[in-house]
Parts: sequence; C-alpha cells; structure tokens
Amino acid sequence: MPLARSLSVTSLSGLEEWDEEFDLEDAILFEIAWEVANKVGGIYTVIQTKARLTSEEWGENYFLVGPYVESNVRTQVELIEPTNPALKRTIDKMNSSGCKVYFGRWLIEGSPYVVLIDIAFTAWSLDSWKSELWELCSIGVPWFDREANDAVLFGFLTAWLLGEVSSSMDYLQRQLPVATIFTTHATLLGRYLCAGNVDFYNKLAEFNVDKEAGDRQIYHRYCLERAAAHCAHVFTTVSQITAIEAEHLLKRKPDIVTPNGLNVKKFSAMHEFQNLHAQSKSRIQEFVRGHFYGHLDFNLDKCLFLFIAGRYEFSNKGADIFLEALARLNYLLRVNHSDVTVIAFFIMPARTNNFNVETLKGQAVRKQLWDTAQTVKERFGKKLYESLLVGQLPDVSKMLDKEDFTIMKRAIFATQRQCQPPICTHNMLEDSSDPILNCVRRIGLFNSSADRVKIIFHPEFLSSTSPLLPMDYEEFVRGCHLGVFPSYYEPWGYTPAECTVMGIPSISTNLSGFGCFMEEHIADPTAYGIYILDRRCRGVDESCNQLTSFLFQFCKQSRRQRIIQRNRTERLSDLLDWRYLGRYYIAARHMALAKAFPDTFIYEPQEASQTAGFRYPRPASVPPSPALSRHSSPHHSEAEDNEDDERYDEDLEAEKDKVNIRQPYTLPMKNKSIA
Ligand code: UDP
Ligand code: G6P
Ligand code: GLC
Repeated sequence: MPLARSLSVTSLSGLEEWDEEFDLEDAILFEIAWEVANKVGGIYTVIQTKARLTSEEWGENYFLVGPYVESNVRTQVELIEPTNPALKRTIDKMNSSGCKVYFGRWLIEGSPYVVLIDIAFTAWSLDSWKSELWELCSIGVPWFDREANDAVLFGFLTAWLLGEVSSSMDYLQRQLPVATIFTTHATLLGRYLCAGNVDFYNKLAEFNVDKEAGDRQIYHRYCLERAAAHCAHVFTTVSQITAIEAEHLLKRKPDIVTPNGLNVKKFSAMHEFQNLHAQSKSRIQEFVRGHFYGHLDFNLDKCLFLFIAGRYEFSNKGADIFLEALARLNYLLRVNHSDVTVIAFFIMPARTNNFNVETLKGQAVRKQLWDTAQTVKERFGKKLYESLLVGQLPDVSKMLDKEDFTIMKRAIFATQRQCQPPICTHNMLEDSSDPILNCVRRIGLFNSSADRVKIIFHPEFLSSTSPLLPMDYEEFVRGCHLGVFPSYYEPWGYTPAECTVMGIPSISTNLSGFGCFMEEHIADPTAYGIYILDRRCRGVDESCNQLTSFLFQFCKQSRRQRIIQRNRTERLSDLLDWRYLGRYYIAARHMALAKAFPDTFIYEPQEASQTAGFRYPRPASVPPSPALSRHSSPHHSEAEDNEDDERYDEDLEAEKDKVNIRQPYTLPMKNKSIA
C-alpha cells in the first residue's frame, strides 16, 4: 500500500527573523505531495483542483513540490527556468551537488509552479539518510520496502530544498524558518485494519497500535506517519471521521478539518449538464450494443447505468456489498416483472494482460453491423434517386434486392454467439483469486438473458484513447444514472462528490467523509439524490438490504423524476466548491503561522467555524423523495414521461433563491493578528 500518497504537507517558508515590518508578501507557500502531477488516486484530485484558488491567493509565491516522473512531465508540465531568485539559487546548488531538480509550470487551471525532484538520481544518499532517521528517531526502514525508501528520499530531498531556500533568502539561518502543516488523507493502519476482518469503528479506542502495525509489517511506515503528524505545527485531515481515527491511531487530534472541494465549473446554459448526460449516455449505449451483441433482448431505452469506480480495495470501497445488493436487486426486478435493465460497471484497476478477444470482438461486430446498414442504405438511396430522376415514385418492393438481403443475412450470422456476454473486459492475471470475479461466480450473475441486472468489470481506469470504450472518466460519469460507493473505509471519497457536481445522483455511506459532510449540511440528502447508506449502526446484511432498497427505488423512478433529481443534485455543487471550502486551508495556514511564530501572529479561532451550523434546506414545494413526488402519480402517461423536460424543474427554480451559502471570504493577513 502506498505510503507517500496518504499525505500532503504544506509549509510556509521565509519567515525567519520576522519583525514588525515583515510583510506576508515575502512568505512562500510550498505544498508537498507524492501526487503532485502524479495521479494515483484522490489526493491528486485535491491538489489539482485546489491549485487555482491557491494560485489566486499566493500568486508567484506558491510552489508545489512532487516527484519527477518522466511520463507525467511529458504530458502535464512545461519545464521553465525558476522564476524566484532564491529558488533558482537553491535548484542550481542542489543540481550541482548530485541532485536532479526540475522547475516548471503544471498545465492545469491556475498554472501553478512545480518543483519536481528525481528521487532515483539521489538514491546514493539513501543509506546515510536512513541512518540519520534511525539515529534521530529510531525508525528503521527495511531495505526491501521500496515505497518507504522512496518516501525517505523524497522527504530528505524536500527538507534539503526548504533548508536551501530559506538560507538563500536574505535572512540569517538559525533554525529552519518554516511553519508546517501535515494533512493526512487516510491512516495507513486504518486502511489495513479495515481491509481485514475487524470491527474497526467500535474498537478504535482499543487497538494496541504498535502491535497491530507490527503484525502487518508496517511498523516503520506507521512510525513515519505518526512522527509526521506530531512534528507538524498544524495537523489536519479531510473529514471528521478521519479526525477521530487519527486521534486514536496516530495519537494526535487534528487541529482543524480541511474538507475536500472541487473546481466547480458553471455552464452558461442552466441545463447544459443534462444535455451532456444525454450525449454521454448514447456513447455508453453504443458500447453496450457491442458488448451484448447477439443478446440484445432488452430495451436500451429502459436501461439504467450504475457504476462504482476507484482504487481496487474490494471491501474498503464496498464492492462486496454492492455485488450482493445487485444480486438481491436482480431478484426483485425479476419477481416484479420490471422492464428495467440495470447495467452495473465496475471500474477498478487490477493486473491484466490487456483486453480480451470476446470483448473486442463485440465492438467489431457492432461496427460491422453499422457498416452493413450504411452500405444497404447507400444502395437503397441510389435506387431511390434514379427512380426520382426519371420522374417515378419508387416501387418499394424492389428497393432491396437479393444482394442486399445477402449482405444483411451475412451480417446477422456474424452476430450469433455461443457464450454469454463477458463479465470482464480484460484478461485478468489473477482471474481465479480475483475478489470481484469470485463474488460474481458465487452470486451467479452471469449476464444471462433472464437476469435484469448485468455486470461489466473494466479493470482499468477509463481513457479517451481506449479502443474499447473511448471515453474519459468524466464523460463516462456524466452518461451514467447513478454512482454507487458503499465504502466501509473512506476518509473523504471524491467519486460521489464528482458525481454531485456533474448532476449525477450517488450512493455513499455514513462512514465516508463525503457522506457525513453531506448529512451535516443538507436537511434531506435523499431528496437531492444523495443517498447515504447506514454502515455505522447496522450489520452488513442490514446495510445490504438498505442498499438494495435504494437501488430498487431508483429503478422505479420515471425518466421525468430522474431529470428532476439530477437538477436537484447539481444544485448542491456550490457546497463542494473550493471557493467555499478553501477557507479551511486558509485558516490552517494562519494557525500554522501563529504556532510557529507566536510573537508575530495571533490565530482567531472563529476563522474555522464560519460554516458551522449551515444547512441546505429540504427542497421546498416538493415531497422529500422524488420517488414519492407527484410525477409518480399513476395517472400520468408514458408519453408524458418521455418528454424531454427540464421545464419540470420550475418549482425548484423558484426556491433557488432561498438556498444561500455564505460567500467565501478572504481574510486580510496582518502582522500580529491574522483575524
Ligand atoms: N478516477 C479516475 N479515473 C477512473 C476512476 C476514478 O481518474 O477511471 C479518479 C476519480 O476522479 C477520483 C479518484 O480517482 O478523483 C478517486 O478518488 P477517491 O477519493 O474517491 O478515492 P481514493 O482512490 O483516493 O481512495
Ligand atoms: C437529459 C436530456 C433529455 C433526456 C434525459 C434522459 O435530461 O436533456 O433530453 O431525455 O436526459 O434521461 P435518462 O435519465 O433517461 O437518461
Ligand atoms: C485518500 C482517501 C479518499 C480521499 C482522498 C483525498 O485516498 O482514501 O477517501 O478522498 O484521499 O482526500
């Protein structure tokens, strides 16, 4: 499990010898993380989406520090000469002392500067730095733990960089004039314990942390993480639930919770996101046509696309109970003779040996059928044209000749299929021990005709350059109907948050940072398409039943209800915008300055509590759940149901003015007081 990726560190440098005249404009902000310009999981999303706001606040004095990975740099970073003289001196000095440090602009919104360190180039220092670590804090990192070794290299090189920068500035160096913030995005021990079979949340206070870490052979990593949490001036985490976990497992209570935001883009046309849904959905439908060739015995227009996505942690991410609930849903849809078909996508990267033949063949067959239809259409058109040229209406019975029928029959024969449409799109390297595949085998959901729930496991992150499903993740999410993230361990959980800002409803849990945050801020989350599963106070089977019931209710909605629900979901976006949530990071930085330089700064605690108590009201003029709304009345017709009608949201528009999030504020920074 990755060590370096569970944390990010912020440091504010250049503050030594601070006096009354010191101007904050001279301070430099470094944000340090393994996922700077290096996508692994959600931490990348935190850093990448927050950059614009932080750049606006810190301008030329904001630098992200990450590892140099050539393939990432080639696609995401423009290398340039360092802009800041102190940083230039530092990088030159380090590069002439056996390091390789690069400087550039990260090509994302806000175009922040990045300092990228090639840790492999300085691997010759590893042993001496490990000895130093051992002598200073008795943490021994074993030679075989590659990730921990990388973390040591990255950590020492970053400390070197910060030290050089501060001595390179025009201050005398006594001790490193740096205020530090450590943000943890998960605890390593928490992840490990949850993935095992323990009653994690009820036993939090009882774990013998050293023993548990030792038993899992992660004691050295645990010590590094705990030391980082204790050494920083300010310790933060991304949610209240992880704050409690950190207090028990890392033995330090976070000073402030810094919830994760997103860079919310508003479309000029109110309902543009609905159009995008329809466009992306039709691309997913195209893929489904190919995947199920020869078995397209269900109505694609009545097909709902559900998905789960993220790093492949089978039980932590709740893929286990999702599969179980899908089996129960399949039963319910069958006994109720529902005409809805559910296709559940699992997007979780595993070790594979590329796409499998059957899956690729499906798309080839679909393409062939399309080409055949085009050929026949052209021949048909030609005959029609010729008939019109001589002033005659065509004889419809002669418009298709024998050859046309032969072409079409040949194409139809090609769609004969002996096997069921595949569950998995790739050749799995560990097929027989794969948890998703084994669970599918156990519950018997094999994409057969009788099943109302079909499963597609795509064990690779999505990409617009894929020959199979050429869509990037965002496009795919937009085209789906519901994201399902029933996590057991999830400090935040970006996937449901991303669904929300795209106007796609989602299921999360009251054990995820996101789920708890939404529960706290919305009076009736379900009414907004935010289903929060109770995994806290219920047993697994009960939670699974609740999940099944959410899914079944969702399947019972009409198209019109889904449109209304998506409109409501999308309206929550502001709540998740960095423009609003960025204030917690601002407060954390002020707090760090006040702790590191108490003679110069004072922290006003009310900074962080500006949002306390805020709640989105229940949607006015509509009943609490769309499933119960007036549109579900048995009297409305199917035709009415199929109308494309963002108009039905008028009632919601009317109430929009009532929803009022406090505007983000900027705090003036002054010497002596940061209030
Ligand atoms: N993601 C992605 N491509 C995919 C599936 C997921 O880029 O095909 C991203 C997703 O946008 C999200 C991140 O992976 O930002 C997962 O973050 P989350 O916080 O949900 O979980 P983590 O992996 O950090 O535990
Ligand atoms: C959007 C589009 C509509 C379309 C609807 C389909 O709202 O603007 O034109 O009818 O999506 O919704 P569904 O939930 O059935 O995919
Ligand atoms: C971690 C957590 C995830 C969170 C992400 C960003 O990877 O597992 O829940 O969303 O960090 O904070």
